[in-house]
Amino acid sequence: MEILAFGVQADEKPLIERAFRDLEDIRCLDVFLNEDTAPIAAGHEIVSTSVNADLGAAVLEILAAGGIRMVAQRSTGFNNVDLEAAERLGMTVARVSYYSPYSVAEFAWALAMAVNRRIVRASIRTRDFDFRLHGLMGRDLHGRTAGVLGTGKIGEAFARIAHGFGMRLLGWDVAENPACAELGMRYVPKEELFARSDLITLHVPLMAETRHLIDASALKAMRDDAILVNSSRGGLIDSAALVGELRAGRFTGVGLDVYEAEAGLFYLDKSLEAVEDDTLARLVTFPNVLVTSHQAYYTEDAVGQIVDATARNVLDYREGRRSENVLVPRS
Ligand SMILES: NC(=O)c1ccc[n+]([C@@H]2O[C@H](COP(=O)([O-])OP(=O)(O)OC[C@H]3O[C@@H](n4cnc5c(N)ncnc54)[C@H](O)[C@@H]3O)[C@@H](O)[C@H]2O)c1
Repeated sequence: MEILAFGVQADEKPLIERAFRDLEDIRCLDVFLNEDTAPIAAGHEIVSTSVNADLGAAVLEILAAGGIRMVAQRSTGFNNVDLEAAERLGMTVARVSYYSPYSVAEFAWALAMAVNRRIVRASIRTRDFDFRLHGLMGRDLHGRTAGVLGTGKIGEAFARIAHGFGMRLLGWDVAENPACAELGMRYVPKEELFARSDLITLHVPLMAETRHLIDASALKAMRDDAILVNSSRGGLIDSAALVGELRAGRFTGVGLDVYEAEAGLFYLDKSLEAVEDDTLARLVTFPNVLVTSHQAYYTEDAVGQIVDATARNVLDYREGRRSENVLVPRS
């Protein structure tokens, strides 16, 4: 029976078709799953969804009523899925627990470098044949301190890059990663990390305990000239509080690949519509802020691994096997 894949990017489609070629028929839609689009899935048993899919209780109920039994999420993070509702509805939900952490870590590093060295502003200037240097001065990162919040797979990959650039490393996590300790990372309370880091990067998952981990008081605890990068989940930062600090002229640079209200905006062309989100509209106007559209994972390598793992998740479901990628049922 055909699988329906929501939120498929044009570059991703051939990779999905290749991964499922010898397995099942799969139809790729570019629309994202939400309450309006969920009825399209009626009559299918399996849907595959992308990072910004709405898999809240209301959508899951529409899917279940349409006969859907399995959701194959094409991402690591699953903060968008109401797991209790899925369990109650007797659905299987699987995600991709591992793919290239280098994709995200390298992008986070690119954001840090871009805001530090004013790459975007420089590019805009040279396109306009303005070759002055005024306002483009950055800082060496060698010898400075990187604070990594969340030292799992992506945090570790970031730490290796920062270490290669000669940065000192501070870490904060509920569990220490020995590979990071071997790089010389010192685990400290997050308040110390905020106060001492020149570059702060977020790699913890979004969950109840980490929502607005970076709130007004965390932002105030950071150095005025810090670089802050978020390539994990938008909800980790209180964006309104961030705007307040930026208005006060703080921070060398802020690189955001994710934004707390990104669903319904990111991955879509909204350029011809009136801007409704005042916080995002303000964020993109700061000269020291760089916003990208949740693209850190978007490399051939990572997307290839994500779709291959999704195909394996579907096969496991069909053949009644349980893997570490299954979120629901819980046992
Ligand atoms: N922007 C993107 O394209 C993109 C792509 C993939 C993943 N991500 C995000 O990156 C996150 C990290 O991915 P990963 O593969 O490194 O995950 P991981 O599970 O390997 O690492 C997460 C780390 O966070 C720590 N952690 C969990 N809960 C915590 C808490 N309450 N307080 C402190 N630390 C806590 C864990 O101990 C772990 O070390 C994902 O959850 C996802 O949100 C973003």
